[in-house]
Amino acid sequence: MAARGEFSSRTAFVLAASGSAIGLGNIWGFPIKVASNGGGAFVFTYIILTFLLAYPILMAELLIGRNAKADTVKSMVKIGGKKSRGLGALTGYWGMLTASLILSFYAIIAGGMLSHASGSVANLVGLPVNWFVNDSMLGTIVFCAAFFVLTIGVVASGVASGIEKWSTRLMPLLILLIIALIVYIATLPGASEGWAIYLQPDFSKITEPSLVLDALGQAFFSLSLGVGTMMVYGSYVSKSENLPKLGATVAGMDIGIAVLAGMLVIPAMYVAQYNGVVIFDDKGQLLQSTDLIFNVMPSLFSSMGGTGIIVSLIFFVLMSIAALTSSISMLEVPVAYASDSLGITRKKSAWLIGLGIFAFSLVIIFNSAALFGLVVNFATEFSEPLIGILFCIFVGWIWQRNALLAELKQGSPDMENTLFWKIWPSYVRFVCPAIVLVLLLRSFL
Ligand code: PFF
Repeated sequence: MAARGEFSSRTAFVLAASGSAIGLGNIWGFPIKVASNGGGAFVFTYIILTFLLAYPILMAELLIGRNAKADTVKSMVKIGGKKSRGLGALTGYWGMLTASLILSFYAIIAGGMLSHASGSVANLVGLPVNWFVNDSMLGTIVFCAAFFVLTIGVVASGVASGIEKWSTRLMPLLILLIIALIVYIATLPGASEGWAIYLQPDFSKITEPSLVLDALGQAFFSLSLGVGTMMVYGSYVSKSENLPKLGATVAGMDIGIAVLAGMLVIPAMYVAQYNGVVIFDDKGQLLQSTDLIFNVMPSLFSSMGGTGIIVSLIFFVLMSIAALTSSISMLEVPVAYASDSLGITRKKSAWLIGLGIFAFSLVIIFNSAALFGLVVNFATEFSEPLIGILFCIFVGWIWQRNALLAELKQGSPDMENTLFWKIWPSYVRFVCPAIVLVLLLRSFL
């Protein structure tokens, strides 16, 4: 079996794990939820829930992974011990399936980002834009395939020379592009209305259960929890690193970029409205998320004249980068299993599994009305929370406390005296599973 990969440094891990966390969920999903859920009140709730609920589960995943230094199935079996190895393996397999399902729909949306980015380049060099941007089935398939090739290419190259190399290049670029766009959009007429909505919290909405549950679901999806991605990335972290600190940095980056994305997307929507683009429907509700991204934003860019082409290019490149650093982490879950447990080479497994998931994306594209929403809901509203609960049960109830402490002490020898050790174990034992259960029950109601 080939040697396992490892991230070469702390920064490499932080950028790769933040790259997984920071994706379309932050840059698109978060601002849309803010705009339809009381502005700053949602931001406030989201930040609190990320630290109170999502961070402890992130830590559970990172620790399970680093403890075994293996794929999700082996890692779960290891802490399951004799009694719970079956359930452990099942949880690992299910996580793999969920990661693959998420990739299958995520790549379709990401393909749309690539098509708009290519359309902007075409516009810039004078080629017909509608070769690249149109609603055709063929266009959707071609760009989804292109996105898969990029994802597979990175994962096939390995942990250090693929995932790490590209995450460390792309993440700083992503942050730069966001900041550049925030500054530019803020200067345009109409932007201040968006800023006002974003910054003035409507705290009367904070007690609405839908706001809290939306924030909870967002925090979960945004930190890539409940699929094993963070477990696999944790398995590539050196035993000498202080994991609670690294995890907190990743959670902080995830929140930071979501908050920045709000400063970009919400003012941009109001600039679009100022320019006469419709962003609310007849009932005063914000348009559907895909309409906003693939119709409202392009209309906004074309209303800006020549500069709009550059802004559009930057915006869609930014979205494509965010999507790519997330999609590689999804594909890594089954690929790690194929190489760790089945002994198949990384290159072969990345291509075989990647193409298999692409085949499923094609099934979704051909049956979009029936399947798209179903796959999204099954993976994100049902599977992710349920697997999240199982991870908490394994860490809180099944993993022996001494063994857990020993793992935590690697990289932080005085762990026993930290606030983290005083609070976190009972937190993953009781609080996290109980709250995530509420999230799960909502998906049935
Ligand atoms: N965290 C990503 C986002 O916010 O877009 C989505 C995601 C990535 C979910 C990786 C699950 C995953 F395994």
